[in-house]
Amino acid sequence: MDPDDEICLCFHVSLRKVRTFLSRENPPVASLISECLGAGTGCRWCVPFLQHLHACHANGKPVDLRISPEAYASSRLTYHVTHDRDESILRQIDGSPGPQGAPDASDEDRTRRHGEHGEHGANQEH
Ligand code: FES
Repeated sequence: MDPDDEICLCFHVSLRKVRTFLSRENPPVASLISECLGAGTGCRWCVPFLQHLHACHANGKPVDLRISPEAYASSRLTYHVTHDRDESILRQIDGSPGPQGAPDASDEDRTRRHGEHGEHGANQEH
């Protein structure tokens, strides 16, 4: 997602706003992100994603969702109809550290490690 893409579509809270809130307030629990313009307090679709962003921040990792805004919004509409969350969308965002699962190295981390240790090419994804 880009910084101006909305994480909480109910209250039009962008990724940029959530990032700023996390770095300024450093909330101890994800639920306090609701103090950022009410994020997560509407249909609650975005709550697991806000939790993911909070976990990224808490772990010192890039605060991001690896999903297109179109797929994100489309999955939310399905959620509103079925009241079931498409678990595949949650797995998509697990490419970076989230509330569950082992942290995975981001491309930035891999590049940094390769630079520090002089390794060549083993995990390049270009
Ligand atoms: S999308 Fe955030 S509460 Fe509905």
